[in-house]
Amino acid sequence: MVSLLENPLRVGLQQQGMAEPQIIVIFGASGDLTWRKLVPALFKLRRERRIPPETTIVGVARRDWTHNYFREQMEKGMREAHPKVELGELWQDFCQGLFYCAGDIDNPEGYQKLKNFLAELDPQRGTRGNRMFYLSVAPNFFPEAIKQLGGAGMLEDPYKHRLVIEKPFGRDLASAQSLNQVVQKVCKENQVYRIDHYLGKETVQNLLVFRFANAIFEPLWNRQFVDHIQITVAETVGVEDRAGYYEKSGALRDMLQNHLMQLYCLTAMEAPNSMDADSIRTEKVKVLQATRLADVNNLSRSAIRGQYSGGWMKGQPVAGYREEPGVDPKSTTPTYVAMKFVVDNWRWQGVPFYLRTGKRMPKKVSEISIHFREVPSRMFPSAALQANANILTMRIQPNEGISLRFDVKMPGGDFRTRSVDMDFTYGSFGIEATSDAYDRLFLDCMMGDQTLFTRSDEVEAAWRVVTPALSVWDLPSDPDTVPQYEAGTWEPAEAELLINQDGRRWRRL
Ligand code: BG6
Repeated sequence: MVSLLENPLRVGLQQQGMAEPQIIVIFGASGDLTWRKLVPALFKLRRERRIPPETTIVGVARRDWTHNYFREQMEKGMREAHPKVELGELWQDFCQGLFYCAGDIDNPEGYQKLKNFLAELDPQRGTRGNRMFYLSVAPNFFPEAIKQLGGAGMLEDPYKHRLVIEKPFGRDLASAQSLNQVVQKVCKENQVYRIDHYLGKETVQNLLVFRFANAIFEPLWNRQFVDHIQITVAETVGVEDRAGYYEKSGALRDMLQNHLMQLYCLTAMEAPNSMDADSIRTEKVKVLQATRLADVNNLSRSAIRGQYSGGWMKGQPVAGYREEPGVDPKSTTPTYVAMKFVVDNWRWQGVPFYLRTGKRMPKKVSEISIHFREVPSRMFPSAALQANANILTMRIQPNEGISLRFDVKMPGGDFRTRSVDMDFTYGSFGIEATSDAYDRLFLDCMMGDQTLFTRSDEVEAAWRVVTPALSVWDLPSDPDTVPQYEAGTWEPAEAELLINQDGRRWRRL
């Protein structure tokens, strides 16, 4: 195994904490993600002097745009998505590094044209042959784009050429395996950066620090002290204007198999040997290999799907999923999913992990809560109806922070107790922990650090865990069998049951 410091790719691309000049080629450059997140993230890095002025961005898409039109679109997008960011002279300079090259995903001529264009830009921009190819296209185009890039010889140099693939990586285990094979035919694993933007979030990276930089929590982090763990990612938005993509994906493929499972891995994994990318990723794979759905023979005891029906959000009526533009009125695509994982290893045997995610929930909130076992005998009368166990909560977003709930004595003559929270918020650093995460991911990729990207075996192991649910839910089914929940409310009743049957309940957030 090559450590990060010995990794020639990383050394080659790093200059005292600043990435080497390179050309970033964005496929799917006319899509939302480019102006909303990718270009703003690169401009942020430029403002912070984390990337050099030679950094060059080439947008590729089918539309017949000129360089100038592309620049105008990016500027318009920046003003719309980030109105508080001052553009000024720096933007004008950054903009001179934006180019556009029209091309079809499946047309080899377009790739030759792109290759020649990049070769022309190199000496002009001083980018030294370094390239990052970022696939921000619909997932069904990934295999073709990768084959074509390989065929045109654009991924040949394992030290100078990188490939970035947006999620979802495959739509099930078989397609992820076949996509991995396509990738492996044209490049080496150390050139591949599979994105999961949750790994770019400060609070997600902090899970590693919190667990492994503190001595007091790790001894409690196991079956002896933990009763169960809940991982929630709730969103208030509905499907927005993404029905075309979402209808084929749904909450399991869009959120649970990637974002929630990353949170899961970082919570459940063993301590890595070092902060080296491969050590961390190996531990994540190990825990995924030990993970399974609680009861694969009886899906309703381990996986529940749901769909939002019409309801109210912030006092306004909102449509149900099946009434949203572009959605099949008989759609069975889940907008909510809850799962119960069990882990067959020494640390977690008998400790269930409950994961849930949904759109059109009452609140936007992502958190991990560790529910500790209750005391063996209750000696004191509690102010709450039920005695509260200690809960450690890691708030991923919003109000980023960590809190620990414990009982204290209420002031007064007797021994009544009450639960209180000891709270840390990122706000106390005076800086925002939330960023779009793409800036961190771009920078790491430009520096050749793969720690925050998913390895091929990891993505396959994650698909394997959810396969029993997918193989049932992907079959044609009667729309009436998909549990509904009203927009603006928490999960469907079936998901309540999933956890209630174990004598536990979802945290009300
Ligand atoms: C994306 C999903 O990956 O993550 C979206 O495709 C979802 O459906 C988004 O809304 C949530 O990201 P965040 O960072 O807002 O929690």
